[in-house]
Amino acid sequence: MNTEGAIGIFDSGIGGFTVLKEIIKVLPNENYIYYSDSKNNPYGDKSDKQINALCENIVNLLIEQKCKIIVIACNTASAKSVQYLRKKYTHIPFIAIEPAYKMVYDYAYDESTLVMATKGTIESEKFNLLYHMYNNHKTILFPCVGLADLIEEGNSSKIKIYLKQYLEPYKGKIRNVVLGCTHYPLIQHEIEETLGQVHFFNGAPYLATHLKNVLQEKNLVNHQQKKGTIQFIDSSNDKQKKNRFFEILKEI
Ligand code: DGL
Repeated sequence: MNTEGAIGIFDSGIGGFTVLKEIIKVLPNENYIYYSDSKNNPYGDKSDKQINALCENIVNLLIEQKCKIIVIACNTASAKSVQYLRKKYTHIPFIAIEPAYKMVYDYAYDESTLVMATKGTIESEKFNLLYHMYNNHKTILFPCVGLADLIEEGNSSKIKIYLKQYLEPYKGKIRNVVLGCTHYPLIQHEIEETLGQVHFFNGAPYLATHLKNVLQEKNLVNHQQKKGTIQFIDSSNDKQKKNRFFEILKEI
């Protein structure tokens, strides 16, 4: 059993940090390789075929690095490619994030709900199955075109303008917000400032527990007694991205 192998985790950029942070809380002694595909982001408006090809490259690299399991920390990549990847790479398990819409069904079914996600996620077959299965008939699906790019850029004034323009019309009308893109938890505070008090739903803590269970079931837990390592790879080889990654990890 490859218990020493790292957990591979990837996103189109820095969004997956919000998932990694939850995973480290429950699996602090694992080693991680985080792959940020900032050369090719955003993923939100790419076709299924393009995303499959990008994911394939990343998965090949993570397998070369002897990862024992792969976490898709990007809702768009999960929605479009997880089935394809599971079929193609049968020897490695995949854990995939998805918008926490079932949690709304479980905990706050009667409340008005805004699902924020990329266009790609909202239009995907996988998300539509989830949506129709748990539809509370008080839900607005909101494709936040361009928002992940602004978060990636770290441009706070543009983010404020974006939220004011597109989200302010919902102020006071929404009780639940599903953070259906892994970049959005990074601006949770700004979203709340725009919408007023809301209840956020984020799939990352649930994914972290699920990952831990899968590692245990498959006897893949790393039993080392010290804190694990985190290796960061960015496809654009951008030094600033690397610094930002470790800064954000400290903050979140
Ligand atoms: N973070 C990704 C997600 O969860 C997408 C961002 C992008 O469009 O690249 O959907």
